[in-house]
Amino acid sequence: MDQQTIIKLVDGNLMPQLGLGVWQTSNEQVVKAIHTALEVGYRSIDTAAIYHNESGVGKALKEIDIPREEIFVTTKLWNDRHQDAKAALEESLDKLQLDYIDLYLLHWPVPHQDQYVEAWKQLIELKESGLARSIGVCNFHIEHLQKLMSETSVVPAINQIELHPLMQQRQLHSWNATHHITTESWSPLSHGGKGVFDNPLVQHLATKYEKTPAQIVIRWHLDCGMIAIPKSVTPSRIKENFDVFDFRLEKEDLTAMAELDIGKRIGPNPDTYTGDHIK
Ligand SMILES: NC(=O)c1ccc[n+]([C@@H]2O[C@H](COP(=O)([O-])OP(=O)(O)OC[C@H]3O[C@@H](n4cnc5c(N)ncnc54)[C@H](OP(=O)(O)O)[C@@H]3O)[C@@H](O)[C@H]2O)c1
Repeated sequence: MDQQTIIKLVDGNLMPQLGLGVWQTSNEQVVKAIHTALEVGYRSIDTAAIYHNESGVGKALKEIDIPREEIFVTTKLWNDRHQDAKAALEESLDKLQLDYIDLYLLHWPVPHQDQYVEAWKQLIELKESGLARSIGVCNFHIEHLQKLMSETSVVPAINQIELHPLMQQRQLHSWNATHHITTESWSPLSHGGKGVFDNPLVQHLATKYEKTPAQIVIRWHLDCGMIAIPKSVTPSRIKENFDVFDFRLEKEDLTAMAELDIGKRIGPNPDTYTGDHIK
């Protein structure tokens, strides 16, 4: 297999373009999934305080023989800790058994709470102190980003947003890129591929490139310049999802994929989400 691709973030730090998502994964499952992923070649793990599996991630990382600096770990600040980010990160690091996090993300803007600028200022301090090497946000729309950037001078390295073939977010992705913010796709497989893996175009491309529908979709994210973090606890799928570095989609196929966009969200709308019914 060819080498995995690495993205240079706006702050100069490097991040693998493909990582393992671990939402809805128990502490027990996550240890096994991470062991499999690291054996296959993944070097990036995406967790969050609210996933309640940071201690499993920490256990898995402690058990393997790979230098800390070769692994990229992301965790996220939950919505009820916007005024308390340093203590929240210290709790996460304690569970992860790490001295620093590679990427710390604000999980949701929760506009009605109106604390995300204050939280962002705390993340800037966490970066300056070295506890977080890079900082970013999730689920931020343009107006949320504009507010952060007008009130502080630090651009988020990452905006992690719901992005998959049925919800391509081209305007937000393009705005991110213009402002040197890297777009990271969550639910990159549309949370299991429903309505995507059986799409005739995706099926056609799978036949054309001799790949699976999941591999076509992951390759589409990479070829469009996004970071992707597909989740799986199934060893064969963890391997399958990483076997995407020996081909690229042709330009005409990327253009055709754009037609799949129907603006269909799986998760809540960040403008109205109050932070209490989905993690
Ligand atoms: N920032 C945020 O607000 C936010 C929100 C949601 C998600 N995320 C992050 O994004 C990650 C990925 O999103 P997600 O977990 O919602 O969805 P996803 O990665 O789009 O899809 C995961 C689902 O697809 C299945 N799957 C994985 N590979 C497959 C394959 N090759 N063939 C068929 N099925 C496959 C998995 O099943 P098995 O596990 O059973 O194999 C699982 O049910 C999360 O784990 C989390 O880290 C962030």
